Amino acid sequence: MIAAALAAREKASAPYSKFKVGAAVLASTGEIFEGCNIESSSYGLTICAERVAIFKAVSEGADAFEAIAVVADTDKLTTPCGACRQVIWENCGNVYVHLANLHGLREVIEMKELLPMAFDDSFLD
Ligand code: THU
Repeated sequence: MIAAALAAREKASAPYSKFKVGAAVLASTGEIFEGCNIESSSYGLTICAERVAIFKAVSEGADAFEAIAVVADTDKLTTPCGACRQVIWENCGNVYVHLANLHGLREVIEMKELLPMAFDDSFLD
């Protein structure tokens, strides 16, 4: 998964921030879907790598997930932003989140630790 996220990062379109991110989400079928961040000159339209990977996966029919990987070129490991945490939680559930940088630093954390007391569809019935 880290290798897939690294490959996805190479495709990042980040002309404004120069901050390239790659993500890969592992579906329960074993299929891996990759995503990179894609920025816009209308900055607010920028989308993070994690959401690209998840939206690709869901739009291709994936509905159960095991893990997601996120790779960026930072000394401390880059974690998903708040918006991505919500989207990961709602679409993937309590998956393992593999974080990595380009220098071999790795960490695995569960989604419930990244988004404690999450709001989700369980509140909407
Ligand atoms: N970004 C991601 O793609 N994922 C993250 O986890 C953090 C931030 C992107 C958004 C933007 O293109 C750039 O990184 C700087 O924020």
